Amino acid sequence: MNEREIIDSENKLMANVFAKKPIVIERGKGAIVWDINGKEYIDCTSSYGVALLGHSHPKIVKAVCEQAHKLISCHAGFYNEKRTEFLQKITGIAPKGLDKAFLSNSGAESVECAIKLARRSSSKPEIIALMGAFHGKTMGALSATWDKKYRDPFQPLVPEIRHIPPDNLEKAREAITDRTAAFLVEPIRGEGGIRVPPDGYLQGLRELCNEKGILLIFDEVQTGFGRTGKLFACEHWGVVPDIICLAKSLAGGLPLGVTVAREDIMSKFKVGDHSTTFSGSPLVCAAASAGVDLLIEENLVERAANLGAYFKARLSDLENKHKAVKEVRGMGLMLGTEVKFDVLNTLLKTAEKGVLILDAGRNVLRFLPPLVIEKGQIDRAITVLDSVLGEDENARTSGSSPN
Ligand SMILES: Cc1ncc(COP(=O)(O)O)c(C=O)c1O
Repeated sequence: MNEREIIDSENKLMANVFAKKPIVIERGKGAIVWDINGKEYIDCTSSYGVALLGHSHPKIVKAVCEQAHKLISCHAGFYNEKRTEFLQKITGIAPKGLDKAFLSNSGAESVECAIKLARRSSSKPEIIALMGAFHGKTMGALSATWDKKYRDPFQPLVPEIRHIPPDNLEKAREAITDRTAAFLVEPIRGEGGIRVPPDGYLQGLRELCNEKGILLIFDEVQTGFGRTGKLFACEHWGVVPDIICLAKSLAGGLPLGVTVAREDIMSKFKVGDHSTTFSGSPLVCAAASAGVDLLIEENLVERAANLGAYFKARLSDLENKHKAVKEVRGMGLMLGTEVKFDVLNTLLKTAEKGVLILDAGRNVLRFLPPLVIEKGQIDRAITVLDSVLGEDENARTSGSSPN
């Protein structure tokens, strides 16, 4: 099929729920992807944070190929060595004291599990989330997601999931009732615009939860696994949650969600309380184990911290140069640039010039490159963004709207 046929066919046959860019991506290596015409792009999206280890990393490919020849699926009603191996690895690296896991297939599912687990283990119904939060789009996760445009068409949502203003400990304290089971929080809000909490906020929430006997759930679906320059973002503030939700980058590109909790909490789930047919398939677990090994062997967390600091400094140069740039935010290789205009056109223009960037809301450019991105590739991405911001500025001052 040629490019046009693929685009037309996907548009016709697939539910029209994704804001698609007119690019047919065919293959990838490290931080580079190529489209069907052979055009090269620097991928600062990692497929929304999934390809954290780089596209088609040879060690992931090897692990997947070897396992595919042996056994692809094995229901969790049976035992499997690859699953056991991954469970040992993930509980080995999870924040201290979190040592029992449920395996699913996506970020939303890892949040669904956390919500059910909080209700089950506390026998209380209420979950408190933050305004601006994004936790996924299945009904439970959607109920904890803030944006009205995602929520309103699907009301009524799951009851007793409420939102409070972020970064405000007084509001958190006031929100607690005798029905509160848990706070559900992204340590750094991703979709909400790469919002880093002020120092003291997450520590304060932890203390509040301890004082009131309430669970603290961290959604690290986007921030986890080295993305922010620590293995888990909560380490930046030395805070350990009771339950952590992980997904996106865990299995080298394959779908995997993991909810890890303290043993005494996870043990409140009884047989039949929660399940999914694909839970911990040997194929996905083989990829995920290889991913954990890679992250450690190749010092990718440290690399994210160092290259992240470099990338952020280069973005800050653009902030100083272009009036339309308001602020640069983020940690490690999870970065955002807030601008004074709608970013959609900018993303299309940088793509045209060979750099893929994400949005986070209407006016934030979001950068989630693979941790294996090279300095030279960051420089190339900055050069392209610089020129597009310059063109937009010229268009604005000459009166024709770029967006
Ligand atoms: C913090 C957070 N939680 C949950 C999700 C939902 O993950 P998924 O799209 O895999 O369901 C996302 C997705 O972007 C996310 O960023």
